[in-house]
This record gives sequence, C-alpha cells and structure tokens, in this order.
Amino acid sequence: MHIGVVMGTGHGSDGATGRLVNELLDRVRGIVPDVEVSTVDTDSLDLGPSCAACLGCMTAGEQSCPNFSSAARAARLMEEADLVVFATPVHSFHVSATMKRFVDHFAYLIHRPAHVGKPCVQISTAAGAGHDQALGYLKSATRRWGFHTVGQLGVNGPGLKKAPYRAKVDAALDELAASVVDQARNPVEPAPTAADLIGFRVARLLVESGRDEGPVDAAYWDERGWFDADWFTDRKLPWFANRLAATVEKKIRKGIAEGSANPYQG
Ligand SMILES: Cc1cc2nc3c(=O)[nH]c(=O)nc-3n(C[C@H](O)[C@H](O)[C@H](O)COP(=O)(O)O)c2cc1C
Repeated sequence: MHIGVVMGTGHGSDGATGRLVNELLDRVRGIVPDVEVSTVDTDSLDLGPSCAACLGCMTAGEQSCPNFSSAARAARLMEEADLVVFATPVHSFHVSATMKRFVDHFAYLIHRPAHVGKPCVQISTAAGAGHDQALGYLKSATRRWGFHTVGQLGVNGPGLKKAPYRAKVDAALDELAASVVDQARNPVEPAPTAADLIGFRVARLLVESGRDEGPVDAAYWDERGWFDADWFTDRKLPWFANRLAATVEKKIRKGIAEGSANPYQG
C-alpha cells in the first residue's frame, strides 16, 4: 500500500500538523505493516512566490509551466499513491499559503482531472478555529482533480492537553485509519452528487470554449469521450441529480451566450 502525503507546513514532523499525520500513519501501519509513505512538503517545493498565472498549463500542457520540474515530484506522488493525505495548518481561516500555491500550481487538473477514482483524506490543525473553511476548500479543490474524500479530521493543537478532547481525537484517528486502509485497498468511487455533476458540465464547457486557444485540454477530453458523456466514468448516475445538472448547464450556457448572467453580489 502506497500513501502519499502533501504536507502544507514547513514545520515538518515536529509541527502540530506533522505530528497528527504521523499519528494517523502509525495507526495505518498498525493495520497494514508494509505501508510505503511518500511525502512532499509544500514549503520546500520551489514553485515561485505564486503561480505565474500564464495559463500555459491549460493551453500548451503542464510541461510549459516554468515550475514544471520543481513540481514533478509532487505530481508523481499523487499519480503513484493509492491514497493521498492532504494536510495543512489553518492560517487565517484557510489553508496555508504554500498549500494554496500548491493547489494553484495544479489548476490544470481542473481541466484535465487525472485522479478520478482515487481516494484522499484531508487533515488540518489549528489553535482553535477555521477547520471548516480550510478542509472544505481542500475537499472541493481536490474533487475537481478527480479525487474523492473518504475522511477529514481537524484538530486544535492546544486542546490535546485535555484528556477528554485527546480521547475523541484518538477515536477519530482510529476511524480515519480504518477508512484509509479500506479505501486504499479497495477504492469505491461514491455516486456523484448534483454538485459533482454540475462541476463536470462546467469543466466541459470551459474546455470546449478554450479549444481554439490551445488543443491540450480538448484533446484530453476527446481521447476519453467525455464530450459525449455526463460523467467521467460510465457508472449509473443518480437520475434527478443529473437532470438538475443538465438544467443548470443550460442556464449557464444561456447566461454566457446572452450576457444575461448576474454578477455575484454576495
Ligand atoms: C499565519 C498564521 C495564521 C493562523 N491562523 C489561524 C486561524 O485562523 N485559526 C486558528 O485556529 N489557528 C491559526 N493559526 C495557528 C495554527 O493553525 C496552528 O498553530 C497549527 O496547528 C500549526 O501547525 P504546524 O505546526 O503544523 O505549522 C495560525 C498560525 C499562523 C502562523
């Protein structure tokens, strides 16, 4: 079993997030002794101050990114792992800046989701608050790359000194470790939700409308027959959710064609 860890902190295994990930991995090893673990930490990936925002990854392919080789190890980790752990400290009610930079670097995966069918978990640590925003963001970002989340855990580091909180975290880690092993061995892609199916159609629309700027995304979809599909795989789709997604897509297309979409006003 091969577990990949994307660690969104420079504090490594001495930090709160690293310690929590290690506690999870120790439990996983308690169930399956021969686990191979590969880790990248997002602070030490040389991805520049921020994504160069050239969009070359989408129009000409990820190899055209100025940071392509610096990120190659991380790309390989996600490709080769049976399950990926995305871990971050909560910084100002969000993921850490280098985790955000990591997500931005792989934005082409929104157009060319390469991880359909692969399970992941998300972990955060904080002084007290913000797990919902940080983990919610990581879940939706990685979902766009094809991953499906099989568990999340957000822990307040200072709270661990109190025995009742520590006991609840231990129980949650036991549960998460069991899911990690189960899903890494036998990944079960959940039925897509209405949001997933809308996401598929929005990605299709993006790729279709970008065909003239660069053929890479469209060729990826052509090869997989996704322009003629309602989902990435040929699994049976929930009928109502798929109809809802089709209606939303129609509305979005009309809004774009006629300029009748409303600006977002909160
Ligand atoms: C810049 C910065 C912003 C932070 N923002 C939050 C926050 O919004 N909510 C919170 O509860 N803790 C916040 N913290 C505390 C960290 O989330 C917490 O200490 C975390 O467990 C550190 O993990 P690490 O040792 O793996 O880096 C922040 C810390 C830093 C450095």
